[in-house]
Amino acid sequence: MSPLSPLSFFFLIVLLAVGQSTPTDPSYYEAQAVNHFSSDPSSTTYTQRFYESSKYFSGPGHPIFLVMGGEGAIEPSTGLFYPFINEVLASKFGAYVIQPEHRFYGESIPVVNATNDDLQLLMTPEQALHDAVALVNSLRDTLGCTAKGTPTYCPVISVGGSYPGFLSFSMRLLFPQHIDASYAASAPVKFYAQQVDGQEYYDLIAKSAERSLSGCAKSIQSALSDFKASLAEQTYQEVASGLLNICPSIPSYIDDNEKFYHEVQMVIAYTFAGLNMANYPPNDETELYEVCESWTDPDSDWAAKLNFLFETLNEDEDEGACFDLHSQLPAGDKGTISSGDWSGVGTGPDGKMWDYQTCSLLVERIDITETFGDRKWTLDWLNNHCQERFEISPSPSLLASTWGFDDILSTTLSRTLFTNGLNDGWSVGSITETLSEERQLIAMNFPNGAHHSDLSHSDPGPNDTEDIQEGHEKIAALIGEWLIEIMEEE
Ligand SMILES: *[C@@H]1O[C@H](CO)[C@@H](O)[C@H](O)[C@H]1NC(C)=O
Ligand SMILES: *[C@@H]1O[C@H](CO)[C@@H](O)[C@H](O)[C@H]1NC(C)=O
Repeated sequence: MSPLSPLSFFFLIVLLAVGQSTPTDPSYYEAQAVNHFSSDPSSTTYTQRFYESSKYFSGPGHPIFLVMGGEGAIEPSTGLFYPFINEVLASKFGAYVIQPEHRFYGESIPVVNATNDDLQLLMTPEQALHDAVALVNSLRDTLGCTAKGTPTYCPVISVGGSYPGFLSFSMRLLFPQHIDASYAASAPVKFYAQQVDGQEYYDLIAKSAERSLSGCAKSIQSALSDFKASLAEQTYQEVASGLLNICPSIPSYIDDNEKFYHEVQMVIAYTFAGLNMANYPPNDETELYEVCESWTDPDSDWAAKLNFLFETLNEDEDEGACFDLHSQLPAGDKGTISSGDWSGVGTGPDGKMWDYQTCSLLVERIDITETFGDRKWTLDWLNNHCQERFEISPSPSLLASTWGFDDILSTTLSRTLFTNGLNDGWSVGSITETLSEERQLIAMNFPNGAHHSDLSHSDPGPNDTEDIQEGHEKIAALIGEWLIEIMEEE
């Protein structure tokens, strides 16, 4: 999910497509516990990087938005993610904004050169949630916020999009005494509860590509089938540098035609997945439209289509430069393009850490569908990959069964907003129906939205589609009601 490190693959595409977040100087929390479950968590600490803004803060008695970091380094050039939070909602409610970088990404490294055993203990969503609780409670103390039920209480609303949307939801689920409400955009809750059929994700990617430009899905399917046929007649080395503009220095683990097909197929599939996430507002200026336009050109053969896609991935290279498959690899020993996350695992150190997370507790069942050349995801495949790479076996149901989010109504969760863009592949695995008005488990769906378009990296405004504009109004109103309610609670 940022092509070249330090950002994860989809994340960079999203930034490129929709503009900029708010560059900010980082802050550092030096007292963060390495292991929140040790008998004395304060005994071993690390320094966590975070971003904050007091620009609109009206003092104790006002809220704090806790924006969760996710599967990527957050550089100062990115800073605070979402202007809708740190400008619009913060100014409306006089709020403080704080945004921790997730542990083991960027500069927030609990253990340098962590072993597999270290990761098993320390690289879990639960440790990351505890980091965020510790950070926001320390901020409350610093700001002089008082206890719940007093006029100078500072309500905390967690916020996140994508995996951080899941984290935001989990903050409210696990720590209702610290987190007063949650806003979870495009949160893949059902993926992590193993409640999504393998075909659903790429089926929606294909449907959205088709909605963007009629004929696009078919052009993808025929290009992949022609690509496969070419490999029945020639060696992968011949196809790579004869028909395709792939650099001859192919990663050494790719040593036969089938592996070559699978890895290039994976690049194509996750590139379309990345274009899907960024396809907002959906019009004829998005990158998805541009690629679909080229792929549906009847004068273009399958190799020209693939080469066009490689060029879009080669943005930093000179024109005509060959496409280096090494550029798609996550860091670390035995890194492979097909990894834990079949929507794209990302590259560099971030990709390695996301590979680890999707190999352990965040298992995503995602098949490559017929449109993208048909390759079935299996738990056996994932198990082999994760054993090779990290000597671990995935635990697909452990989080859901421990935390209970495979049946949200059976938990004590309340006051949580789920938002979804219906053009977004991830919407097949998020909460798209209001589960309870009484408990305020509210879903809002945006027909024109892509991946957390309501939490986009550019300023909300007239360029937003009508459904997102209305959504922003409704979200602001809902949070306003919640804040009144929270301040009245004992
Ligand atoms: C981590 O590993 C790198 C590369 O092997 C090495 O240069 C570095 O000294 C190690 N750092 C620590 C703190 O062990
Ligand atoms: C809206 O989009 C146009 C065209 O892409 C751009 O020039 C303009 O700056 C955008 N306006 C805002 C407020 O973002």
